[in-house]
Amino acid sequence: MTNVGTRLPATIDDVEVAGKRVLLRVDFNVPMRDGRIVDDRRIRVALPTIKALSKRGARVLVCTHLGRPKHGPEAAFSTRPLAAHLALLLDAEVGFAADVVGGEAEALSHKLRDGEVGMLENVRFEAGETANSGELAGKLARLADIYCDDAFGAAHRAHASTEGVAHRIPAVAGYLMARELDVLGGVFANPARPVVGVIGGAKISTKLGVITNLLDKVDILWIGGAMACTFYRALGETTGTSLVEADQIAVAGPLFHEAQRHRADLRLPVDLVVAASAEKGAPTRVVSWHEIPDDMMVVDVGPETVRQMSATCYGAGTVIWNGPLGIYEIDDFAVGTRKLAEAIARSDAMSVIGGGDLAAAVETAGVADKIGHISTGGGATLEFMEGKTLPGVAVLRGDS
Ligand code: 3PG
Repeated sequence: MTNVGTRLPATIDDVEVAGKRVLLRVDFNVPMRDGRIVDDRRIRVALPTIKALSKRGARVLVCTHLGRPKHGPEAAFSTRPLAAHLALLLDAEVGFAADVVGGEAEALSHKLRDGEVGMLENVRFEAGETANSGELAGKLARLADIYCDDAFGAAHRAHASTEGVAHRIPAVAGYLMARELDVLGGVFANPARPVVGVIGGAKISTKLGVITNLLDKVDILWIGGAMACTFYRALGETTGTSLVEADQIAVAGPLFHEAQRHRADLRLPVDLVVAASAEKGAPTRVVSWHEIPDDMMVVDVGPETVRQMSATCYGAGTVIWNGPLGIYEIDDFAVGTRKLAEAIARSDAMSVIGGGDLAAAVETAGVADKIGHISTGGGATLEFMEGKTLPGVAVLRGDS
């Protein structure tokens, strides 16, 4: 079974929610530092669903995971700060239950009045969550009349709150989930041509599934990031001190033949920015891909590569981009990523950008509003792009 196709699940617009208790699964797995939210994008993108449910008189019980707590409740992973932040964004009170399916959660689910919003403690404090325990799914289901899934970012997880519960009460998608499926599904099933793919990132091993799936769909596939070095090695080039996955060199080589078989043009960066170390302020040079010095490493794509990548994007009907082109966390090495984002923003192509890292980079470049779609998922978007079925989506479609 593959995800390709645009068949959408029912959404909140298809059900009567007034006076109903709605368990709303969101992905508020936001970066935190010292108990403070570093980036609230994942909370903001769920607001349209929360506001619509509330406006229509639903009693909204918000549920999310945060991080990966291993041994039950841990203060550092509490969702309490998220509830407080949600209250600020909604400019309304948000009740909080300090448990997931215990007495407080039950009390909150019955205390909420029409239009009110409450939030449960981190669902991963329950061991049964990641195990997709039927018992936990049953308890979650008893908290509500309707289940609404707006957690696209967690849809690749078959957990009690993303999958199990949806078998037990009427289940619909929220607006964010519906938009992700609509846009990503459309782009993969019926893209405007030519289609240009850009896959960056450090490791080919984590992107192999996306690369092989895209080769079947794109006209041109650019490889960026440190991952390109593994391809260079497969072509017999030297790559200095760059990160290379030695065990993937033999995997990279055959991808050129695979590309030919699909009539896809697999392209590597033609010039590169190199530095002696991946440290801020390290002196850099631009070199051809045949001339990476023995004592230097690739930290970004070069200007000629950006020019060629941009030119292909200007001529594209669709651009699909996953993964940064350089060590984007360091400003000096984020130039290629930023310039390509600017070029895509200027192009007329339908552009889809996936993955949390890239979403942040595009926002920093100040062009986020000119990109067709910035997917909110990390692993979920990657798995979608690999052509895998997402359990959280399959259950909403009635496929599982
Ligand atoms: C994510 O951040 O990609 C999602 O929230 C899923 O989190 P997980 O990888 O811990 O399941």
